[in-house]
Order: sequence, then C-alpha cells, then structure tokens
Amino acid sequence: MKITCVINGTLRVLETRPLDRLLDVLRSLGLTGTKEGCGEGECGACAVLLDGELVNSCMIPAMQIHGRTVLTTEGLGSPDTPDILQKAYADEGAVQCGFCIPGMVIASRALLARNPHPDRPAIRTALAGNLCRCTGYEKIIRAVEKAADMGYGEEIPPFGGPVCCYPPEFTEEERKSFFQPSSLDEALEIRAEYGDEITFLAGTTDFYPDMKNGKVEVKKVLDLSRVEELKTIVLRSDDLFAGACAGDSMIMEHPDVLALFPALARAAELSGARAVQNRATLGGNLASASGAADLPVPLLVLGASVILASVRGERRIPMEEFFTGYRQTVMKKDEILRGVSLPLPRTSLRQAFYKRGSRAALTLSRISVACSAVLEKGTLKDVRIAAGSMSAFPVRLQETEELLSGKRLSAELADDAADRASREINPRTSGEFRKTVTGNLVRRFLLSLREN
Ligand code: FES
Ligand code: FES
Repeated sequence: MKITCVINGTLRVLETRPLDRLLDVLRSLGLTGTKEGCGEGECGACAVLLDGELVNSCMIPAMQIHGRTVLTTEGLGSPDTPDILQKAYADEGAVQCGFCIPGMVIASRALLARNPHPDRPAIRTALAGNLCRCTGYEKIIRAVEKAADMGYGEEIPPFGGPVCCYPPEFTEEERKSFFQPSSLDEALEIRAEYGDEITFLAGTTDFYPDMKNGKVEVKKVLDLSRVEELKTIVLRSDDLFAGACAGDSMIMEHPDVLALFPALARAAELSGARAVQNRATLGGNLASASGAADLPVPLLVLGASVILASVRGERRIPMEEFFTGYRQTVMKKDEILRGVSLPLPRTSLRQAFYKRGSRAALTLSRISVACSAVLEKGTLKDVRIAAGSMSAFPVRLQETEELLSGKRLSAELADDAADRASREINPRTSGEFRKTVTGNLVRRFLLSLREN
C-alpha cells in the first residue's frame, strides 16, 4: 500500500504493507534511534510522537499512519546539534547504554508539551512506561527538570493537524482483505459481509502482542480508527454515552466522566502507561473479553449497558450479560461494539476503583475491584461490588452486596464484608494473596464512606 505522512518534518510517500509496524517502517528509513525492546508495549524503547501524542511504535500498523505526523528522536536534534532536552539528558549524565533513552526523551517531550513545568510525581508518572536498566532514574528526572527550567515545554508548537485527508491507497490484492471505513454505516456493511473472518483494529494494543504470541490469525482486517462516530463521549439527558473507540486518555480526562463516573476515570488512569492509554480503547477492552480487563469492572458497578450495532439495527446488553466466557461475548458475527451507555448516577452515589499489578504502569492487573454505594443516614443502599482478574471474566460479588444492602455501616460490618468478598472469589492462581487483598479493598471502600 502507499501511505503519505510527515516524519520529522519531511513529507514522505511510502510503499509498505498494511500491518507493518511503525517501528519497522522507521528503522527501514534509517531512523534507528527508535529501538525495539519488548515488542509488546511495556518498555517504551520504541516511543514516538504520533500527531503530538506519545505512542509505542511497536504496536501501530502502517495503515494507521497515513495522513499523520510522526516525530522521533532524530527529529529533535542530532549528536552535533541536540535540542535543549537531549542536551539536558547528556549534561545530567542520564545516558549510559542509550538503548532506552530515545524513548525516554520522547516521553519527556510529550510531558513537557502538556505540562511545561511538571513536579517530580508528574515526571515519574509520565516516564512510568519507559524502562531503563542501567542509568538510574534520578538523573533522568533531573534532566527533565533542567529542560523545563530552560522553558523547553513552552516552545513546543501545538500539533498542526492532519497531513492529508484522502484515504490511503491499498493495492488491488490488499483491497480484498483490508478495510478502513470512515463511517459506521460503511463499517457495518463490511462486518455483515465478512462476519467471523473479520479481525477488528483500533488501538492495536492487544493486536500486536497477540500476533507475536501466535494468538491471531488474520483473514480480513476492519480498521475502525477512522470512524469518528465511535470516538465520542456525550452527556445526554439520562445517560452518558462513550463510543467504542474512545481512548483511555480521553476517558480519564473527560470532565463529565470525572464528575459523574470517577471509578471509570480511575480505571482508565490505571490502565497502563501514557503511551498505552493514548491508544487503548474502551471497545477493545470490552471486546477482548479478558478476565484481566480493567474497564468492565467499574462498568459492572455503574449499571452500564453495551450497545451492539449491525445492519439490522442496535441492541442494548446489560454489562452483566455481555461476557459469556474467557474471550467470549454475546456479540454476533455481524455486530460491531458501538459503545457503552451509563445511566446517570444519584449525586450521593460513592464509587471507587482499585487495581494491583506487578508494577504501576503495567497494563495487566492482578487484582481489580470496583465498588459503589449510597450511604443514607448511616445505612448502605445500592451496593455494588465487582472484581476482575479472578475468573474468566469480571463479575459482581452478589453475596457481598446482599450482606451489605440495607445494613448500618460499622467497622464490624466492613470486616464481615471483607471476609465474605474474599470467600466469594475463586482465583485460579495466587489464591490466598488475591482473596486477602480483595477483602482488604472492599473494607477500605466501606471505611472510606464512614470517613466522609
Ligand atoms: Fe517495548 Fe515497544 S518495544 S514498548
Ligand atoms: Fe541503558 Fe537505559 S541507558 S537501559
């Protein structure tokens, strides 16, 4: 296929294959500052800016680069003429083997563009998706602070818009298997025609790791990334609608989500490092039907429904009925996940989401718990609790909910609920640890209601 894009300020017309990774495209052009570490979105060595947003290039298909702007470390400066940020890294001794540093510099630039004067916690969070095994993070943090003090972030121009608006050119052969519609109607027609042969692409944060591990067999590809209707989050008279291609970054920063559904915003915030949040989508998180998916857990307690669309029309499925097994859902072979509807909550509804993983910026959770309840004159109402990463798919803890509903909240009741929650789940591995932590998180939520 032929794609047109701007790489480091130069307009490029490239011949490539649709699923070639951006990382490989860049390296084939001699831009070898962008490195491959893990190849599955966890080390940040391959980080670049795509339309000004931090992304991991090991997880982006070439077909999604058409019309877009890419910036790599070579676009900032060269060894002879480094920019302020690159020089600050060198001056602070924040470079040893150098393998991880281009990704670190790019992640730092993304941070300083958003927040020209970040504090230390903000720097740590922004770099949490970039692993360095030899330099030590203190020097890296000092380098970012130094560039910030020199006004680097204030000079970064805002993203200037798309490069071109015409579609990419697929070859005759590729046109039979690769589809990149720009409207939902068009996408539904394609889905109706090819059914189970379709592999969906959107944020591709699962797609490339699955490819690497031999878990996907690609026949026909339906890329939803250009369907604008799927990217919206809208507050309506009686619900909030979030489209399937709304990204984690969008969800966690959306003012209506933050105000009405803080547990969902928190789950998006904890879903991974910034480069993953900029790509991962709500629909991907649901449709992958992984037991460890984060967003379904708060959606279960918030009473959400999944909206499925097809050429036959739309249907609404309560979140509890959407998953049928590990990596299985009720979605029919002509349907597309259109989005999620969240009923507007009572203003007194309290909600929380907790996640434990092996490191904060790692996408995969080991334990996740969402809780919501109303505390009215000391009595618990509308209690909902859900847990993820324990079974084939996230589930409500209904016995614990029943134990709590209509009871006066006390420390003893919180202990009983913690005990019940830990007995209600049945994790396949690390059983005692997961049971204990789940119980502790339920207790923590209940006690936080009393404190407030
Ligand atoms: Fe590790 Fe891309 S190579 S995130
Ligand atoms: Fe060597 Fe980071 S500088 S791994």
